Amino acid sequence: MRIHEYRSPLRAGSAAMDTPPLPYPQGWFCVGFVSDFKPGTVTTSLFMGEEIVIYRTRRGTIKVTRPYCPHLGAHLGAGGRVDGELLVCPFHHFAFGPDGTCERTPYGSPPRARLSLLPTREAFGITWVWHSHDNQPPTWELPDLPTSGRIPAHHATDMSGHPQDIVENVIDYGHLPVVHGIEPTVLAEPVAKEQTYHLTYELARPMPPLGTVINTINFTFIGLAGTHAKIQVADGLLTADAWVLVTPIGPWRVRIWYASSATIGFDQLPAPWHRLPRRPLEQTVTSLMNHWLVRDGRTDFPIYHHKTYLPHPKLNKGDGPIGALRKWARQFYPGGPITSPGQQQMPTASLATGTDSQAATADAAGQKN
Ligand code: FES
Ligand SMILES: [Fe+2]
Repeated sequence: MRIHEYRSPLRAGSAAMDTPPLPYPQGWFCVGFVSDFKPGTVTTSLFMGEEIVIYRTRRGTIKVTRPYCPHLGAHLGAGGRVDGELLVCPFHHFAFGPDGTCERTPYGSPPRARLSLLPTREAFGITWVWHSHDNQPPTWELPDLPTSGRIPAHHATDMSGHPQDIVENVIDYGHLPVVHGIEPTVLAEPVAKEQTYHLTYELARPMPPLGTVINTINFTFIGLAGTHAKIQVADGLLTADAWVLVTPIGPWRVRIWYASSATIGFDQLPAPWHRLPRRPLEQTVTSLMNHWLVRDGRTDFPIYHHKTYLPHPKLNKGDGPIGALRKWARQFYPGGPITSPGQQQMPTASLATGTDSQAATADAAGQKN
């Protein structure tokens, strides 16, 4: 899995890097994609300022552990290997089972020792790891989402930043025409539902030779780990899952993953197009779509990389419901939650009319995190 490193061409620092204004949030975060972790492989990655070791057993179970062997501290990602369902340490070949316990050694009986396994899930073609501030087990699960379940194209870039800023970007309506050159209409009011947050855009896009095509995009934020966008193009001609996933890898440092999966409505294609082979065509469309997603996302990179987080932003009427989103997001930090379980209606927002209740959002934004 290739990870790109963002190098800003701008001569500017990040005021936020020395003293991060937000801690790591709690929740499920992407550490890669199901298809990238083949049975028998061991991979080291970064997660919340530490290394983690991701391995898949021969029978296909994904496991994620802190890197150091409980025997004498060897790094399990530096030469560790999978043997059946066991992870074998490179130093003395002690072997650890799927529940983390030491099951076998080359000499003597196994000590009472176990790996520091991290809660892990695989859903939507994505591998997720749980993070909490105090090493507590998961307090919520990933939502049910209608996706293809596959991630045929993805791209990762490391840069300065924090997940909250990047999730907030989706509802930062003021920057959409300025940075992305788009002016979507918000069809459904933003709604927070426990650990997820939902809104729907409609976007008219020139797509030659089809002409101007209406895209409907349903966004779901999964905690502060990022966004799933269900995109419907031209009444089902194309249905796509687009993901922007953000994982903290260090203090004010993130890995941003763009991932896509496109499904073509073959029954809507005119002859002879509907006779084209489905898989290669969908793979091509998915790759193009992810390329476009990354290209569009890159316009935000210099902003993410250099910006800081202001706990008391000076918002105006044209901004999105930033304060309301921040109020919802407080549940993912120590001291949260501040929202009661169940649905919470966010202020109405419309780019077309600019009728959002900005007084309420600015008020909420003024609360210190
Ligand atoms: S340090 Fe891992 S087996 Fe000894
Ligand atoms: Fe953006």
